[in-house]
Amino acid sequence: MSDRCSGMSLLMMVVFAGFSLSPTVAQDPLLPPANTPAVNPAITRIAFGSCSTQDEPQPILRTVIDWDPQLFIYLGDNIYGDTRDMQLLQAKYNKLGQRSEFRSLRAAMPAIATWDDHDYGENDAGKEYPFKEQSKELFLNFWNEPRDSPRRQHPGIYTSYRFGEPGSGQSLQVILLDTRSFRDPPLRAPFKSWKNDYLPDTDPQKTLLGQQQWAWLKARLQEPADLRIIGSSIQFGHEYNGWESWTNFPRELIRMVDLIRETRAEGVVFISGDVHWGELSRLQVPGGYPLYDLTASGLNRDWEYVEPNGNRIGEACMDFHFGMININWGGSPTVQLRVHDMTGRARVRKTVRLNELRFSNR
Ligand SMILES: [Fe+2]
Repeated sequence: MSDRCSGMSLLMMVVFAGFSLSPTVAQDPLLPPANTPAVNPAITRIAFGSCSTQDEPQPILRTVIDWDPQLFIYLGDNIYGDTRDMQLLQAKYNKLGQRSEFRSLRAAMPAIATWDDHDYGENDAGKEYPFKEQSKELFLNFWNEPRDSPRRQHPGIYTSYRFGEPGSGQSLQVILLDTRSFRDPPLRAPFKSWKNDYLPDTDPQKTLLGQQQWAWLKARLQEPADLRIIGSSIQFGHEYNGWESWTNFPRELIRMVDLIRETRAEGVVFISGDVHWGELSRLQVPGGYPLYDLTASGLNRDWEYVEPNGNRIGEACMDFHFGMININWGGSPTVQLRVHDMTGRARVRKTVRLNELRFSNR
């Protein structure tokens, strides 16, 4: 089966499977500037989360600290900004920055971040949001981005980090995507229920990441790494459900799968947020290896129900939670993907051998 054929098959699967269902913080010493060679020791414990309103307490962050991660990744909706008033947006960042739980987390570990719609500026907003440059400036300043960071020199906020020495067998690449600054408007369904119903849009002119970010991503995937975590604010590997996600842009989803295949990038694991529940999805890829997507979305936001997801492994978590990735680099390396609730209990747990995330030699 050619790449093109298998890509189209996956496109059909995505489209038709869907329709068949229905203030300032201290500098982080661990982190090198984005896009520079790693100078850090191998990393083994990463926590992440998303969807945290600044207006309510965030006790889950205390639980995160108990697990002693070496890095925390904020995946978006880190505040609920939802405004075109930049003074108000700054005030909301300040409110998060003044929360004691947040300050404790920031003091305990380095944190890196990307954004989703609510901290970008408006619900479900894309490239049309008129204050994206101003919002970007507030975002980068809040997250303490170095003044000389490449992130401040190109449109959007996509970036990458490296941990562990290249060639050591323990090198980790963390890629944070920008799913907002370049995204074309999604296709709205002609019907309207209580939720935002979007339909998979196969318009070849529409993009989610934009051409410049796609080219940047290709170059990142061509860099050597033993494990690659791709952070996407919106879900990637689940089954279409009408909410915002990669499934609304199936050609872009296929483009990601094809790019991973084309670059022979191995060890890719997606992490995502946005939906206010936690779950693990596994996307089977013709001619490739399974793409896991660990969603942790609800640091202090929850939801009334969970959408069907034929790609889900195990149960979804409807309580406040965070994601955790534990890497065992010894012997035959493994990656454990978990979702923990406020008590610290693991509600989702899956151990994946790193050699499962490899292309076969056929
Ligand atoms: Fe969101």
